[in-house]
Amino acid sequence: MIKKNGTVYRLNTPNTTLVLQADTAQILYYGARLPAGDSFAAVAPLGRRFFSAPGTDDYTEYSVLLEYADGSFASRFAFTRAKVYAEKPELPDLPASYGEGKTLELRYTDAAEKVSLYILCTVFEDSDVIAVSARVANNSRKPLRVRRLMSAQFDFAGTGYEIVTFNGTWGRERHKTERRIGRGIFVNDAKRGASSHERNPFLLLKGAETYGFNLVYSGNHKEIVECNEAGRTRVLAGINDFMFDWTLPAGESFCAPEAVVCCAPDEDALSARMHAFVAEHIVRGKWKRRERPVLFNNWEGTYFNFDAEKIEAMAREAAALGAELFVLDDGWFGHRNDDTSSLGDWADNEEKTGGGLAALAERVRAQGLAFGVWMEPEMISEDSDLYRAHPNFAMKIPGREPFRWRNQLMLNLADERVQNFVVRAVSDVISRSGAAYVKWDYNRGMTDCWGKGIAGGEYFHRYMLGLYRVLRRVQKRFPAVLFEGCASGGGRFDLGMLCFFPQIWTSDDTDARERIAIQAGTSYAYPQSTMGAHVSACPNHQTGNGNPLSARFNVACGGVLGYELDPCALSAAEKGEIAEQIAFYKENRKLLQFGQQYRLEGENAAGYITVAKDRSAAVAAVNALSFSPAEPPVTVRLKGLDPAAVYEVCVRGKETAFTATGALLMSAEIALPLPDAVQAMRENSGSLRSVMLLLKRVRA
Ligand code: GLA
Repeated sequence: MIKKNGTVYRLNTPNTTLVLQADTAQILYYGARLPAGDSFAAVAPLGRRFFSAPGTDDYTEYSVLLEYADGSFASRFAFTRAKVYAEKPELPDLPASYGEGKTLELRYTDAAEKVSLYILCTVFEDSDVIAVSARVANNSRKPLRVRRLMSAQFDFAGTGYEIVTFNGTWGRERHKTERRIGRGIFVNDAKRGASSHERNPFLLLKGAETYGFNLVYSGNHKEIVECNEAGRTRVLAGINDFMFDWTLPAGESFCAPEAVVCCAPDEDALSARMHAFVAEHIVRGKWKRRERPVLFNNWEGTYFNFDAEKIEAMAREAAALGAELFVLDDGWFGHRNDDTSSLGDWADNEEKTGGGLAALAERVRAQGLAFGVWMEPEMISEDSDLYRAHPNFAMKIPGREPFRWRNQLMLNLADERVQNFVVRAVSDVISRSGAAYVKWDYNRGMTDCWGKGIAGGEYFHRYMLGLYRVLRRVQKRFPAVLFEGCASGGGRFDLGMLCFFPQIWTSDDTDARERIAIQAGTSYAYPQSTMGAHVSACPNHQTGNGNPLSARFNVACGGVLGYELDPCALSAAEKGEIAEQIAFYKENRKLLQFGQQYRLEGENAAGYITVAKDRSAAVAAVNALSFSPAEPPVTVRLKGLDPAAVYEVCVRGKETAFTATGALLMSAEIALPLPDAVQAMRENSGSLRSVMLLLKRVRA
């Protein structure tokens, strides 16, 4: 709801209130919902603003930095107009949130330069989220240069906030990282052309309230937190201004991607709101709210070493275990038997596919499974027919040896001809194989950014616009196909990608023990229905560690379940166990994929609980993080239950059960009936001790 009182605008969601004073561009309040009636005269203005530019005595990091034709940087934006839209206006060429969305548009103009700045705020009532974006319109007769345009600026009183980001690297994505900076500037950013494994765009600012910031963008991003000497904290989020310099011709506009902002009393409430927002207003199309299939992927089972007989045999076994989708990963095209060739040649390897992809897809489908296929459409191998025919499709700088990464180059998606090629190539693979699922991979960072006729400072963003154009076209053509994003695992896990891909491969690290922290970190901003999570072989291929099959399953149930191993190599006992796992998962799939998930943390324990929307049932999976002889009991408090209800609690696979109220389960330490570690080690099944608890409400 948006309410106006003079030039004061109050943006209410059921649980939060944001108050903006339009004429002075000030934030008067952002926090828990306030009752109506305040005039905000009592609020010290504190100079908390929602945009800033050089040209005044504010030397904090700016949200807007424009360089005018005469070389000057000073802007003086004065309020000129406010407008409220009943429906959210589209952001040209950029992915964005949708649905609901009353939108306040505030316009400011620099009269000397004839430039307007638009700030848009959309209210999402069902998830307590506000989407914010900024646009600059050059109404003058001369070009100007956009050197920085942040999507959102939020100023807060005080400097004692804790900043939480989600950091990592390949195979270790989105580990929660906390710090306080006191005074100074903190930057969380990505410069590799993707939102990155290293620094997710999601950031939390924790004080009396918890604030979350995220970006609907998949390229270079930057979040700045400046705690200034005057005792104010500024948060900025937007496109990274690193190697960014955008010439805005007379008469044109530049639109920053959308930022999303949320305020909640604590991290759990914030995650719940972000989850609701992502599921309702980011994920779209056929797979929104739709249960996702249990898949088998052959990658860790075979790597490049397979033929049609092997794939058919794997599919047969997978089907017998209850799988619904078989995904043929890398190596089915060109002459790709390792990672040195063939990207860009999306022609079937006749030998490995036994007469073509269509024929192999048929053989998979004959087992009763849907067929899915891997592609890496944004890439090109130098050893490929595509490269031999169109070397200029590759992203490289004339006269300079390109930097090779995983032996491959990127395609120059900033070029329309290359975009057309990619749309054709992907469409052709889907059409000829009848694929119901595509894993869209992306396995290197951008280095030799250059395209003919494209200014260097525009390259990164033009690439993203090109990619989004391609994705829009492909999805329009194949609305029923389920796309899973991937970027060497979780290198592009962001809201931009989720506008096109309802799920993303969370990490190439499939070790359940490692996945506990990766999935927990990811869950701060993204719901479990977006997180691909696979059970893989033991010992694990990334770490060499062993974990019991049940523990691997328990962890994978925290996301969208799949298996990534050779089912033909399983023992009869393992097959029996997996068949049971899949049957259980299917029975509880709606709850597991779309219930409300909370992180569980205890001393030496970590896991999650997923609670049905009506709180009538829940599944909790908790793991002991380490083992020492004579250890104290490993305990945890559950979350999200109905405090007044009585639940029956049992351990999956065990007969015994006990009953307790939701209140007790959430406020007392529950001792975990963990498997015996020494026994497990003796059986050589690995050391991760994990238990899955099933809760059913027996009395309301
Ligand atoms: C990337 C992906 C893996 C797999 C390989 C194939 O590393 O993250 O899941 O698809 O590529 O080459």
